[in-house]
Amino acid sequence: MRSVYIEELGQHVGSEVLIQGWLYNKRSSGKVRFVLVRDGTGLVQGVVTPTADPAAFALADSLPQEASLRMGGTVRAEPRAPGGFEVTVTHLEPVHIPTAPFPIGLKEHGPGFLMDHRHLWIRSRRQTPILRLRDAVLWAIRSFFHERRFVATEAPVLVGTAVEGTTTLFPLDYFGTPAYLSQSGQLYLEATCAALGKVYWIGPVFRAEKSKTRRHLTEFWMAEAEQAFLDHEGNLALQEDLVRYVVESVVAERPRDLDELERDSSLLRREVAEPFARVTYHEAVALVQAAGVAMEVGDDFGAPAEDALSQHFGRPVFVERFPAAIKPFYMKRDPGRPDLALCADLIAPEGYGEIIGGSQRVDREEELLAQLREAGLPEEPYRWYLDLRRWGAVPHSGFGLGVERTVQWIAGIPHIREAIPFPRTLDRLYP
Ligand code: 4AD
Repeated sequence: MRSVYIEELGQHVGSEVLIQGWLYNKRSSGKVRFVLVRDGTGLVQGVVTPTADPAAFALADSLPQEASLRMGGTVRAEPRAPGGFEVTVTHLEPVHIPTAPFPIGLKEHGPGFLMDHRHLWIRSRRQTPILRLRDAVLWAIRSFFHERRFVATEAPVLVGTAVEGTTTLFPLDYFGTPAYLSQSGQLYLEATCAALGKVYWIGPVFRAEKSKTRRHLTEFWMAEAEQAFLDHEGNLALQEDLVRYVVESVVAERPRDLDELERDSSLLRREVAEPFARVTYHEAVALVQAAGVAMEVGDDFGAPAEDALSQHFGRPVFVERFPAAIKPFYMKRDPGRPDLALCADLIAPEGYGEIIGGSQRVDREEELLAQLREAGLPEEPYRWYLDLRRWGAVPHSGFGLGVERTVQWIAGIPHIREAIPFPRTLDRLYP
């Protein structure tokens, strides 16, 4: 018997196959037992009758949830069964029988309980498609940059400086020297982009966020790109191309996972079909205020403000040219309006919040020194970063896309904690 994966069953209709996986659920109807088996690629129903194989029939009665097993039989197309196929079982063999009842039943559990059992919860019927969609998002990002000849260059995670302000740093002791977990690889990408022209990386970054929201993790993955000779306008065009490419690739490659989550993929397609909307920070504040959400010029957009914007546009929207005073030290100022930064945040539709932050970078040494001082940051640890403005400084721009927020939007899931296998939040370091 040929061992196959559940996602390949369509190529084996009428043949005998062997499936290796775990018992997800079972039920009986008269003299027939139905075993629902998962193998990481999907779910399939095995039909066991006492006449086909009496030993298998007895086993189907006794196997508990999450027993690992091998199941052999003939594949049939069955539109009513999960996944569209069924296996008429002729062979059932346990690999391991659980030593205790599986803690996660098929009934509802509270989020605290599920998070305490995250190592087991990831096996469930909703979590596996989300994690496969995450994989598809990461692949799509890589292939987008690879097709455009960007070079993948990694940034260090152990660093001596802040990127995104000093309030969300995770400090650590680096052999007697203060160090931090990186908040963003950007500064290092600015160095590698001067070596290689167009660079990107996808890596873990850390923010000691004290916010307990459905959009914040303390450890998350960012896809960051940096390009030499790219200005603010070109930066927005690159981001828009990336986001459209990622959505279209994931929708094309993983329709079954989106269906399993009851995510409307035609809505996703429509959201990225048109050019993305674009407003200035000041226009956005006025729209938010008009929607009845309290906000002043000079405030950052909170979740209710972002939701108001995403409702207003119904597609991704760039909010550009924020007051420089509320943005990090490295952003280039708008030459015509030095109080504004040449930056943009991209807000996802349907209330999934900000998925990208990006900007054109300061490319003159004097400007950077002045902006470091304004931000109250010491020069010494940024000496290497200042060097980039001493030899061959060029206009350059880049951005960072939050991987989990993007997965959250594409998978249509309410909370970011389901968009990463092992989420880290303010109150969660276990498992
Ligand atoms: O806007 P941010 O802070 O931008 C930067 O860090 C830049 N240095 C990136 C760059 O230009 N290379 O973060 C970028 C994105 C946000 O838009 C959001 O999607 C995500 O990272 N993000 C978070 N995701 C989950 N949890 C958090 N606490 C996040 N903070 C930011």
